[in-house]
Amino acid sequence: MSARNLVASHMKTIDVSGIRRVFELGATLTDPINLSIGQPDYDVPDNVKEAMIEAVRNGQNGYTVTRGLPELRERIQADVINRCGGSPDVLVTSGVSGGLFLALMACLDRGDEVLIGDPYFVSYPYLVQLSGGTAVRVDLYDDFQLHPERFAARVGERTKILIVCSPGNPTGVVYAEDDLRAIAELARERDLLILSDEIYVPLTYDDAPPSVFQFAPERTIILGGFGKAYGMTGWRMGYAAGPAEIIDEMAKLQQYTFVCAPHPAQHATITAMDTDMSDRVNEYRAKRDLVCAELEGVMDFVRPGGGFYVFPAVPSRFANASALVDEAVRRNVLVIPGGVFSERDTHFRISFAAPNDKIRRGCEILRSM
Ligand SMILES: Cc1ncc(COP(=O)(O)O)c(C=O)c1O
Repeated sequence: MSARNLVASHMKTIDVSGIRRVFELGATLTDPINLSIGQPDYDVPDNVKEAMIEAVRNGQNGYTVTRGLPELRERIQADVINRCGGSPDVLVTSGVSGGLFLALMACLDRGDEVLIGDPYFVSYPYLVQLSGGTAVRVDLYDDFQLHPERFAARVGERTKILIVCSPGNPTGVVYAEDDLRAIAELARERDLLILSDEIYVPLTYDDAPPSVFQFAPERTIILGGFGKAYGMTGWRMGYAAGPAEIIDEMAKLQQYTFVCAPHPAQHATITAMDTDMSDRVNEYRAKRDLVCAELEGVMDFVRPGGGFYVFPAVPSRFANASALVDEAVRRNVLVIPGGVFSERDTHFRISFAAPNDKIRRGCEILRSM
């Protein structure tokens, strides 16, 4: 090999060890109780599969226009307006990850700061960094609500973007409407852009979650996705909805990066949007209730309002979350240590995207440790 380092220096700061470590530990187990998974345990509905197959058979396999099929864009736009008002423009993206990357690349100058609530979805700090920005973590322990005053305290000269995510990963917490209003006000006062990751909105179990877009439509980009809701994470379908001047720039970048979201999956997503998923949502609400009942009184946690995660505090008999995870693995249970999603390693993530008997058995083992 060459004496030169052929890999960019910024790759050194990208660490995949946290979740990989749990995967590697899991690979050593036979039939583990896997409560670490980040996707639903149900498959794509049959009619949506048929729509995908039909699209492939019909030869809908080439590029689409950069922004996505007009029929799908209109459908998404109508949905967002119905839920949040405003008059957003829409770009169909390759998953929410695609939308996040385009938004950050389109809006950050080198050295700009992005405020991220901690704990956070693992990709945020890395995507910010790859886009030339600096991630500033805002501590949201112990209730994982937004705490606008904590965000306000961290806004500086270089702050450009706030990322919010509700329902959250790894917490499942749905942000309070008043806090979202206050964050919108802060963004307006300090001239900031808000990225609102709403991938788990279709999987919410109590009241409909408010969106910050309702309160600052002129400076919010909603990043929505279909992967989690329809069990089609591998189809890479998402969207960005927000002010046209930013969506236009993201579309320009999409031309030279992702090009377009997968064509047959765009057709199938139109069918998905017409498919009633309420039985699945009810099933997952029952899983949420089950995991909460199993942990109630034994561990400290915030009851999740959506998604499929709960993020309990590590009981004091363990030194940290990594120690708890090591012990759980010894007992055949896979969960993720909080340090993967946070500056702190004091909590751990349980995914309830699993069969009920596994949830029960896994919680029983975690309680007994
Ligand atoms: C909060 C959050 N945002 C975005 C993503 C990425 O979604 P996609 O698979 O659509 O890129 C995930 C996936 O786990 C997530 O949890």
